[in-house]
Amino acid sequence: MTLEHVSDPQAAAVLRRLHQSAEQAKSGMVSQHWPRMSAWFSGLGTSHAERPEASVQAGASLDPQQAAFLYSLVCGSKARTIVEYGTALGVATIWLALAARSNWGRVITTELDPQRALAAGANIDEAGLSDVVDIWLGDASQTLRSLDEPVDFVFSDGAPEKALEVLQLLRPVLIPGAVIVSKYTAFGSKEDRAYTDWLRHPANGFVSTTVPFQSSMEVSVFRGEPAH
Ligand SMILES: C[S@@+](CC[C@H](N)C(=O)[O-])C[C@H]1O[C@@H](n2cnc3c(N)ncnc32)[C@H](O)[C@@H]1O
Repeated sequence: MTLEHVSDPQAAAVLRRLHQSAEQAKSGMVSQHWPRMSAWFSGLGTSHAERPEASVQAGASLDPQQAAFLYSLVCGSKARTIVEYGTALGVATIWLALAARSNWGRVITTELDPQRALAAGANIDEAGLSDVVDIWLGDASQTLRSLDEPVDFVFSDGAPEKALEVLQLLRPVLIPGAVIVSKYTAFGSKEDRAYTDWLRHPANGFVSTTVPFQSSMEVSVFRGEPAH
């Protein structure tokens, strides 16, 4: 499964455009701005007013292969309620929504930056997927507090500093067998390691592995409450 195999032509066209522009932004003009941009892209360090213009173009943290892998996991797990932490421009959201639609499910995606949420909404609309996506604007560690339905799948991709808090917030509503995919791995920053250490602690009820893509992903499964 790759981008060429996306059978919905409307969504495929939007994904192609967004992946291409992310690729161009990363390889070209972005190099000059990269340190400041990557901080802004993860929602940290720089204020929104300070963001470099180039970063508006860069909206995907997954390459098409990783995104297709995410799509396959959602399809295979038959997930119905999918939560994304960190929408940005909606690239992963569109992949998640395509899978959600085939499962008769939906995506709740969370974004801190109103401009990004607006841009994501337009992309999702253009892809013809607005009926399966809800964008919750605000800090996910606050907005997701009102979630009171069982969650089958989580893609966690917002600021690493809040990733563990967001996961701990979601844990009570995860179904046994829920899958959590994230960009925070045991090879990453201090925050990434705190996240994976917690996921890997037997008392917390997950099994978790780093999948070594070019840029790795952590894939975890919630087994349910651990036996005492
Ligand atoms: C790496 S980007 C997400 C990329 C997106 N998932 C994709 O694959 O297209 C991270 C996003 O998380 C957002 N973010 C950071 N902290 C957040 C928070 N506390 N709550 C919600 N969104 C947050 C940032 O504004 C940024 O747009």
